[in-house]
Amino acid sequence: MREMIRLRQVGSLRDPTNSAGSSVRFADRAGGQAAHDCAEDVRCSLQLTPRQLPSQYLYDALGSALFDAICELPWYRITRAETRRLAAHRDEIFAHLPGLTRIVELGPGDGRKLRTLVEGTSTPLTAHLIDLSAAALARAAHTLSDVPHVTVVSHQTSFEDGLQTVSDRRSSLSGEAHDGSLIAFLGSNIGNFDPPASAALLGRITASLGRGGSLLIGADLVKPERDLRLAYDDPLGVSAAFNLNVLLRINTELGGSFDLPSFRHRVVWNPRCSRMEMYVVSTKAQRVRIEAIDLDIDLGEGEAIWTESSYKYTAEGLRQQLAGAGFDSVAQWIDPDAAFALTLARARER
Ligand code: AVI
Repeated sequence: MREMIRLRQVGSLRDPTNSAGSSVRFADRAGGQAAHDCAEDVRCSLQLTPRQLPSQYLYDALGSALFDAICELPWYRITRAETRRLAAHRDEIFAHLPGLTRIVELGPGDGRKLRTLVEGTSTPLTAHLIDLSAAALARAAHTLSDVPHVTVVSHQTSFEDGLQTVSDRRSSLSGEAHDGSLIAFLGSNIGNFDPPASAALLGRITASLGRGGSLLIGADLVKPERDLRLAYDDPLGVSAAFNLNVLLRINTELGGSFDLPSFRHRVVWNPRCSRMEMYVVSTKAQRVRIEAIDLDIDLGEGEAIWTESSYKYTAEGLRQQLAGAGFDSVAQWIDPDAAFALTLARARER
């Protein structure tokens, strides 16, 4: 259960997206309690109608490697589009941030996007990297290690606790009126949070910033359904492997009996909710036992388990959401090829 422990982010199970209803809840607990909670999450979510699994459980070591592979696929364009926009507009970005002293990145991935950004300045910066995964932090720190003007500080913790830590540290160090911080939330990770959870997280980001503090956020935009389907159901089957791996993980970590060949990957574009939905579908009627939680579930032929949502935005809708969370949008750069938006916003005076 180790990977499940560190990946547990939210407790609500109404939606496999990172949904927490009125508040985002991130676990940062001792291993035993967290392991128990994770197993309980699996038990509760599998018994909902429709059956679900929390999307953060897609990312064990294999799931993370498969996600990295997805980012290399020609049909999944988010990572390349964002990197292009960062490289093309970093001078403008830094021009909007005259007193910048530090960048806080939520979920830095392999650190390459942050590196692309900071290579656009020679100003000394501290980069605070926040992630639950020690492996991801080590990788990102390594990517940034030879950038001479950047000092990396890693925080192996939840976004919530990491934001709190860096905001406490800022207040105690400077006590200044102006906040020279930029929070980077890239990769369209916001899209894996449902609307209440993303509003709660953006609210936490605002609260952690002082006057003049800024947010740089990357979000995937609505695009033709055909493009979306190919991005989430690629012809090489990498996305399918990424999705089905969650069942393998339950088998391995919780003593599950999912018969992998009898499940298939399915994606659905839900235009009403503006999201891609990802499911694993049972191709036959079958009983699955999960030993560690003493659970038996009977799946019907064609029954789906909902594993992830990826919300897609409009440029205007994103600016409105940022405004609702207390930000003024300063600049927005759209990648026209991939329909992706990189938005710089400043925390409003409070
Ligand atoms: C990490 N996240 C932004 C990805 C997305 O596009 O929602 C995860 C992913 N799921 C399937 N493919 C990629």
